Amino acid sequence: MSPFRLTRTLPEDAAGAALRADVRAGLTGSPKTLPPKWFYDARGSELFEEITTLPEYYPTRAEREILLERADEIAAVSGARTLVELGSGSSEKTRHLIAALDGLRTYVPVDVSESALTRAGQTLAAERPGLDVHALVADFTAELTLPETPGPRLVAFLGGTIGNLLPDERSAFLSKVRALLAPGDALLLGTDLVKDEKTLVRAYDDAAGVTAAFNKNVLNVVNRELGADFDPDAFDHVAVWDAEHEWVEMRLRSRTAQSVKIPALELVVDFAEGEELRTEVSAKFRQEGVRAELSAAGLDLTRWWTDGEGRFALSLSVAR
Ligand code: SAH
Ligand code: TRP
Repeated sequence: MSPFRLTRTLPEDAAGAALRADVRAGLTGSPKTLPPKWFYDARGSELFEEITTLPEYYPTRAEREILLERADEIAAVSGARTLVELGSGSSEKTRHLIAALDGLRTYVPVDVSESALTRAGQTLAAERPGLDVHALVADFTAELTLPETPGPRLVAFLGGTIGNLLPDERSAFLSKVRALLAPGDALLLGTDLVKDEKTLVRAYDDAAGVTAAFNKNVLNVVNRELGADFDPDAFDHVAVWDAEHEWVEMRLRSRTAQSVKIPALELVVDFAEGEELRTEVSAKFRQEGVRAELSAAGLDLTRWWTDGEGRFALSLSVAR
């Protein structure tokens, strides 16, 4: 059994204060929005794992295919002794990479979901004797302080999660990632690719309704944490392709005119019939866009791999 450590970098109640600020700003603005990191309580993390097994949700399978095929090459190019993974979730695909990284000493999974981190971290520490697993409960869009670990460092950001950031958030995020790296260290980035609208919308609106339940779960989080009285059944799950921005937008549409009380904020939020609350974007990429965004952050794209059907890309870039 290898050491497993878990560090909470969020100060006491920082999560609560951040949720209150986000919910107030998001639900008093127009259009109404909520930031996606609040999806992932224990139930939300479970629902996301179920999404990754749905027939319509191709990104997980496509990314796993690439990772299995390229793990040895990634290991050889990076020579990583420390692997940091942002938004690691179940770390399910990452285990293939960890297996290929012979010289790996430390794995640092970073996630807002403590339940997902604990499960994944303990499993990995048991599987790989000698690997130091140091999990961090942290928000990767905020300040990140990593433990002192031996280089070279490889940062992995999989699942297309970068697409859940808005363009200006994305550039700030990539600059922060660059600051975690020494020259020559690498970033392994998973990006879903632009494709036909039907395939994209189906991936975010499955027949079994799991994605709908996942989307509505954010209302349960606000109910539980802030004492609100959202009725999840009074909203419809909506996924639409925005061709101008090249992203899928997830929304919750109010079925009727209704008022929702949020006691912890001393706030009442009115929804008109049909009014939509935006809960998430999932941007889709092209190689030239990814290369340009990485380059602007001081990262040079050196490898670009796609699955056999060209649906998803994994890229490796090196810090200048
Ligand atoms: N990497 C996994 C999970 C992707 S889902 C995969 O490829 O399957 C996105 C993950 O990022 C979830 O585990 C979620 O809890 C985490 N996450 C979302 N926003 C975050 C944030 N701001 N800071 C840290 N983790 C975040
Ligand atoms: N990173 C995932 C993605 O954009 C997250 C995700 C999958 C998601 N399905 C979702 C987020 C449905 C909100 C709603 O593909």
